[in-house]
Amino acid sequence: MMPDPVITANSLTRSFDGQVALDGLDLDVHRGEVLALLGPNGAGKTTTVRLLNGVLAPDSGHASVLGLDPATDGDAVRRRTGVLTENAGLDDRLTARENLEYTARMRGYSKSEARDRVHVQLDRFGMNDQADQRTVGFSTGQRKRIALARALLHDPDILFLDEPTSGLDPSATRDVTDLIGSLAREQGRTVVLATHFLGEAGRIADRMAVLDHGRLRASGRPDQLAAELWDGIPADIDLGQPPTTEVVALVERLDGVLHVSARAAGLTVGVRDRVVMATVLRELAANEIDVFGASLRQASMEDVYFALEESFTTKSVS
Ligand SMILES: Nc1ncnc2c1ncn2[C@@H]1O[C@H](COP(=O)(O)OP(=O)(O)O)[C@@H](O)[C@H]1O
Ligand SMILES: [Mg+2]
Repeated sequence: MMPDPVITANSLTRSFDGQVALDGLDLDVHRGEVLALLGPNGAGKTTTVRLLNGVLAPDSGHASVLGLDPATDGDAVRRRTGVLTENAGLDDRLTARENLEYTARMRGYSKSEARDRVHVQLDRFGMNDQADQRTVGFSTGQRKRIALARALLHDPDILFLDEPTSGLDPSATRDVTDLIGSLAREQGRTVVLATHFLGEAGRIADRMAVLDHGRLRASGRPDQLAAELWDGIPADIDLGQPPTTEVVALVERLDGVLHVSARAAGLTVGVRDRVVMATVLRELAANEIDVFGASLRQASMEDVYFALEESFTTKSVS
């Protein structure tokens, strides 16, 4: 049985200047769970994080975080949550250590307790050597580490991470993602990860909630989402090269072909059933297109990614 949710949102709604940023969000997050809030820019992820932390009040609807209402008990909520905001928000006149000690003092710790807590966090993020440098010269990756350390100072029950890897190069991204993965595995910690990177979400999250234009489009375990968002059976067709638009159009026209994605080495096709696969191969052969390999398989995160990306793009155009 699932433990009680530590976060619930009921019809949570918020507009800015008459534009709906979050439109009737319903959501449950359980203790110890890593939930990814996934969606393109402007989907409403940051708005959700701010509403759940009482930094912003909803126009309508209700949220409960650790049994508290963030709209009226924001301070109490924020004592038990940690937030990594989109831009780390460090005071660059201060050193890394001073930034953290300042926050720890603000959170009510004594001088010595603050010092100890800061030491523990700097150590865990491998930042002890740079601790006494001013943060002004820090790289984005170093800033994220300090901001993560700051979000964890008071050992929060719920950790909110808003685009934790944005602006990082691939190797720093891997570092931070691994760090988050291990934070998430710490006992009892609940993590809400807002990101527009599906790869990151799929790697770390137990469950994903897909937001688009302020609405919840789908939610579930990554593999469930694959089934929900990706009709049919995926089939990879190796053409030894990227397909021409004519080839894509040719396959798209066939009965039972649900969708077609162009890939570097050929096509990924969603077919209604395996018989359709035979039709696809026959059609390619009839058009003298070389096929080097073809196989049906289970839907993967990558398929979801393409499905989502296509629907995000289609929507933002309209
Ligand atoms: N403080 C604000 N003032 C005006 N519009 C805002 C504000 N915050 C968010 N928005 C708008 O609300 C929508 C959702 O934004 P946001 O929650 O930041 O999305 P995401 O984090 O998914 O990129 C966007 O259209 C954005 O422009
Ligand atoms: Mg955002």
